[in-house]
Amino acid sequence: MDKIVVEGGVPLRGSVDVSGAKNAALPVIAAALLAEGDHVVRNVPDLADVRTLGKLLGHMGCAVERSAAARAMSLRVPAAVRPEAPYELVKTMRASVLVLGPLVARWGKARVSLPGGCAIGARPIDQHLKGLTALGAEIRLEHGYVEATAPRGRLRGAVFTFDGQTVTGTENVMMAAALADGRSVLRNCAREPEVADLAAALVRMGARIEGAGTDELRIEGVSTLRPLDHTVIPDRIEAGTFLVAGALPGGDVTVAGCVPAHLEALLEKLRAVGAEIAEVRGGLRVVGDGRPRPVDVKTAPHPGFPTDMQAQLMVLLCLAEGSSKITETVFENRFMHVQELQRLGGDIAVDGKIAIVKGVPVLSGAPVMASDLRASAALVLAALAARGTTEIQRVYHLDRGYERIEQKLAPLGARIRREKT
Ligand code: EPZ
Repeated sequence: MDKIVVEGGVPLRGSVDVSGAKNAALPVIAAALLAEGDHVVRNVPDLADVRTLGKLLGHMGCAVERSAAARAMSLRVPAAVRPEAPYELVKTMRASVLVLGPLVARWGKARVSLPGGCAIGARPIDQHLKGLTALGAEIRLEHGYVEATAPRGRLRGAVFTFDGQTVTGTENVMMAAALADGRSVLRNCAREPEVADLAAALVRMGARIEGAGTDELRIEGVSTLRPLDHTVIPDRIEAGTFLVAGALPGGDVTVAGCVPAHLEALLEKLRAVGAEIAEVRGGLRVVGDGRPRPVDVKTAPHPGFPTDMQAQLMVLLCLAEGSSKITETVFENRFMHVQELQRLGGDIAVDGKIAIVKGVPVLSGAPVMASDLRASAALVLAALAARGTTEIQRVYHLDRGYERIEQKLAPLGARIRREKT
């Protein structure tokens, strides 16, 4: 198992490239199951989660090949697949549930392990199941598995309103509706850029979808789709993490290859804490001038402030001149990083969904433990700002969503390395 060691206190300077988006690549790769043939997904990040999904499609009978050089994944989907996602694979990555919609829509049946709980919350999939049921799927939960069938061999179009906005729920039902018989109208959909990117990929396959990026999707089902060739969008959360790194006191970082329009809520907060932000060719430049100002933040579905940036922004606010209030509204248990930030000298008090962060002049290095993907990114940022040495354990969390982060940060001047424990 690896750990990351950081000698902190060095402001970051220079330019860093953003990889393709994990949360766009995963649903787009799953969408390949909707059509027989040879598919190509481009700008795919080299991440543990992507490899897990590749293994899952391999288990179903697809031929999966990854070209690191081309940053592309090629998939050959056969005429018949094994429509099953076993617990062994799903337990390592909840996003595996994204195969459910495509399987039941394309093959009329699916057996997919229930994802189970997660460090950041209960994360049920009731909305996924309700949406598929509205499209005519018959769903049973048995022995920890979702058993789904399309009684007439094909789903049918329907009007469905999500009780709450769900990213992968919207993606699952949208993929299923693309092959259903008739017209679907999905309301209260998630509006994340990754959802819109999936819709764009489906349209390239021949799907008829209107309203991508809004909370209402109108989908005219088609009987067949053609193989995919799609380039996924840049990772706005990886970009956001590097922007926060550049906004730390004394920082001056250009984040190349990101899409500013995908980051508006974060940029608004970075400007509010006093960071200078400028759009430059092909990206964004951020300059962290002195101690940040305090700011209040409330997470929300897109275009609100992303919950996947909450922990990282908390690090910046740990160094602010004054107190900030962070309200986490999307997940019920997403303050696992607080105790570890307190070990680094952060002054944070949590009460349910609210964290009050009293700024301190400096953080100091210490051994800490990662608990989930974005919490581990926050610990790396805090370690970069802290005086002295920080050792971060359980970095496998980090590798699920950041492609060799230490190799991306070192050219910016970070004194960071990976070690075997
Ligand atoms: C996606 O997860 C992302 N993952 C998450 O990123 C991200 O945090 C989340 O959206 C919110 O932006 C991928 O895209 C692979 P949700 P998802 O369904 O789709 C509740 C990262 O760090 N809910 O939008 O699982 C749920 O419990 C990860 O990269 C139901 O109640 O999130 C949560 O409170 C972490 N019933 C809220 O909705 C459902 O059926 C939003 O969850 C579905 C969700």
